[in-house]
Order: sequence, then structure tokens, then C-alpha cells
Amino acid sequence: MAVDNQLLIPDVWDDKWNELFLAYQSDLRHAYYLNALLDSKYTILELAAGSFRDMAFLNQLGYDCHGCDFSFNSVIKAQNHFSHLSKKIFHADAERLESFNKTYDVTYHNGFWVLFDDDNKIYDLYTVQKKITNKFLIITVHNGHNKEFKNYFLEKRKFDNLYAIRFFEIEEMLKILNLTYSEVSIYPVGKGKKANEDLLFIEGNTNKTAMSHYLRANNFNYLESSERLMFQIFV
Ligand SMILES: C[S@@+](CC[C@H](N)C(=O)[O-])C[C@H]1O[C@@H](n2cnc3c(N)ncnc32)[C@H](O)[C@@H]1O
Repeated sequence: MAVDNQLLIPDVWDDKWNELFLAYQSDLRHAYYLNALLDSKYTILELAAGSFRDMAFLNQLGYDCHGCDFSFNSVIKAQNHFSHLSKKIFHADAERLESFNKTYDVTYHNGFWVLFDDDNKIYDLYTVQKKITNKFLIITVHNGHNKEFKNYFLEKRKFDNLYAIRFFEIEEMLKILNLTYSEVSIYPVGKGKKANEDLLFIEGNTNKTAMSHYLRANNFNYLESSERLMFQIFV
């Protein structure tokens, strides 16, 4: 399913964040998943942060996490909403991050590469992200192995281009990045707030050991019922 190219325009996201910014704040599942993989000593950057909900929650948990996006509106909204973090929130295009050479231990994004049909563009984004990262990258995308979730988006996209995004299968991602299974850790995550790791989120359980019980690298028992794939790539 082709991506709607409108989603590559900052002004389009400026408008979207007027509607979505507050609504997005309530779902912190991705930040809970990240918490299982992070160390409190790491410096962290979220790219294409949008609502900035994950970076804000990670700071609440005690991490030093910064966030950026190319939508000026999202940045301003986040600086106002999370005023205590305003110095950690900034405008940046993920294609142009040269000035941050190896600044962060960990960089991550969620629902960003799903905006790109062009595999070469994704590889370029990956190359830029690696240059600013010391330890590992986390790349979270919509899971193409979950046919039900994919079909839901196919229906929704008829009325809302927010759903006109790309889903990825594991082999497809490895091919784009020119990587093998042994070079990445893959975590299928997101059970619709109904099971496994998503129940910890409902309980507000940020305990890493509990989350690690579900987030085991390359455990594909729930591949077809997980909403997203988190790829952890060490540099
Ligand atoms: C689906 S949203 C991400 C939502 C985010 N993970 C969250 O939790 O709110 C995609 C984001 O990518 C941003 N974006 C798109 N292209 C970008 C680019 N080249 N550089 C930086 N951000 C970009 C958009 O502004 C938008 O905020």
C-alpha cells in the first residue's frame, strides 16, 4: 500500500498536530517498551517525535532524553505542554543532523519510516541516524506480518491519510538496511492494550524485569498479532 506523500510535508504535520497533539498523549506504550531496553546512564534522542509523549515520559522515569521533529507546530506545542523540558525539545529535520555527530548513546523513532515508500531514502535516513549514535538505534515501524492490523489501516485510509502509511515485514527491512538477522534484535510489540506487555502498561508497571519477560529479542511467538516491530541495531 502506497504512502500518501502529503505526509512528507512539514506544514501538513503542523495542521495534524493541532488536532492530534493532546489525543496522542495518553498512549505511552512505546515508552514502556523502550524503558526495558535503556540504561539510566544513556543520553537519548527521539527523532520525528511529534507529540513528544515518549521523550517526556522517559524523562519522568529519570532518563536524559531529548526530542526533535521537523514540524515547527509540534515543537512549539511540546515546548508549551512540557515546559519543564523545553530546552530538550527542538526543531530538526531527520535528514539533516550532521551537527550532532555521535552526540547520543541511543536514538529512536516510532512511526517515522512508515512515511517513506522509497527504500533508498530510508537507507539514507538510517545512515544519518547511525552517524549521531554511539550505542544503538531503535526503529519502530508498523508490522506487515499482522494482516488484521494492516487491513484496518486499509479501511481507515479511505477517509484519513494519517493511515496511508507503509507496513514492513522483517525480511523487507533487513534487505533495505543491508543487514542479517544476526546483526539486529527484533521485538514484535503492541497487543492492542489487551495482552502481554500491554497489560503492564495498563497497570503502570515500569518494572524492567517484568517488561523483559515479554520483550525477548527475536521471540516471534506473537509476530502475527503484534502491531509494531521494534528493530534494535547496534552501531
Ligand atoms: C506518526 S508521527 C510520529 C509520532 C510520534 N512517534 C509520537 O509518539 O507522537 C510522524 C512524525 O514524523 C515527523 N516527520 C516527518 N518527516 C520528518 C523529517 N524529515 N524529519 C523530522 N521529522 C519528520 C512528522 O512531523 C510527524 O511528527
